[in-house]
Amino acid sequence: NKNFVIAIDGYSSCGKSTLAKALAKKLNFIYVDSGSMYRAVTLYFLRNHVDIHDPKQVEEALKNIHLNFNSRDYETHIILNNEEVSDEIRQMPVSKNVSAVSAIRQVRHEMVKQQQRMGKSKNIVMDGRDIGTAVFKNAQLKLFMTADPKIRAERRYKELKEKGEEITLHEVFDNIADRDFQDTTREESPLVRAEDAVILDNTNLSPEQQLNFALEKVNALI
Ligand code: C5P
Repeated sequence: NKNFVIAIDGYSSCGKSTLAKALAKKLNFIYVDSGSMYRAVTLYFLRNHVDIHDPKQVEEALKNIHLNFNSRDYETHIILNNEEVSDEIRQMPVSKNVSAVSAIRQVRHEMVKQQQRMGKSKNIVMDGRDIGTAVFKNAQLKLFMTADPKIRAERRYKELKEKGEEITLHEVFDNIADRDFQDTTREESPLVRAEDAVILDNTNLSPEQQLNFALEKVNALI
């Protein structure tokens, strides 16, 4: 009776969190959006002008950052030192800086530690970039998601527009391409498919089709 872990990794704006949420809801698992943690750390760094090239400043900042999740539903409500920052972490200033912050070894070390604690004895779905390769290497199910970059940009653009963001499709496309480049080429646990991860290209799949695909994999394992 070990806990069941589903690790979802993949490129930016591939619909990882949409699938992860749907799975968690269906299976009654906990859902953790690991990207929101890197985003909240980035927001703190920006607000406090932390120099990411100064290990002392980074270390000091990490000591002062306390992250919590408010899990009243399957949406991500992330609390940074008593303040809910769920909306602000999705905005461009954070999106433009998060890949640089998340490439810092000390930052990853601390986040991975906290993430492993969250999944220690609970059934959990976690999405991110290194979940199957670093955080939960023994996850029972690993998915690696990908989709056509243009489709990804269009989906994310629509999402941001609906939230009233002032942004162009071009900006969204560039940010996705830039993050993918930084995330796949960094030294510290770069984004890469775990050998035992199942590839899910959702360019032409509806959210429901993706959920069914993943549920079939889960059912084959339990
Ligand atoms: O998932 P999301 O797109 O919100 O993640 C934002 C950024 O956080 C990614 O582009 C990546 O730089 C970083 N990240 C990471 N490892 C994770 C999750 C996110 O490096 N497990």
